[in-house]
Amino acid sequence: MASPFASRRLAQLSGLAGALCLAAGALAQNVPPPPAGASPQVALGAQLYQKTCALCHGVAGRDATVFPRPIWGPGHDIAKFGSAKGLFEYLQLLMPFDDPSKLDDAQKTAVVAYMLVRNGNLRPGASLPTGGDPSPIR
Ligand code: HEC
Repeated sequence: MASPFASRRLAQLSGLAGALCLAAGALAQNVPPPPAGASPQVALGAQLYQKTCALCHGVAGRDATVFPRPIWGPGHDIAKFGSAKGLFEYLQLLMPFDDPSKLDDAQKTAVVAYMLVRNGNLRPGASLPTGGDPSPIR
């Protein structure tokens, strides 16, 4: 016999499954094209972002359910990481949140480059040395 607790939990879990389906739907639909004139590194970062980050942060770095604050563009709070290197170091510690070892150093650097292009801090044709550099985040 299902306890009230168990059925409440079940309702929560099916809500979660619904949210994940919505997220997957969003992934299929509104993926922005990679930035025009992207360097190979920035293009790789765009792909990796969609594959390993968008589920929790949204295809456009915002409007996600898991972490609703934008991670680039208007309303972001990533300037606190200071530089490309600082953002890289944060990813080394914590992102992707489900498994920070999922991406290697070169792949994480590519994601940082992509994020900074989207945030307007780096030219699309630029690329960063592995581990990032002092390029400022604003
Ligand atoms: C499983 C969900 C999940 C995935 C996947 C994920 N993140 Fe996160 N992300 C979070 C959560 C939750 C936080 C808040 C962590 C905290 O407050 O300590 C966060 C915080 C961040 C922040 C800090 C934002 C701020 O304003 O403080 C950045 C930057 C970030 N993530 C980038 C990434 C990148 C890049 C990837 C892919 C490589 C990624 N995340 C993958 C869940 C996720």
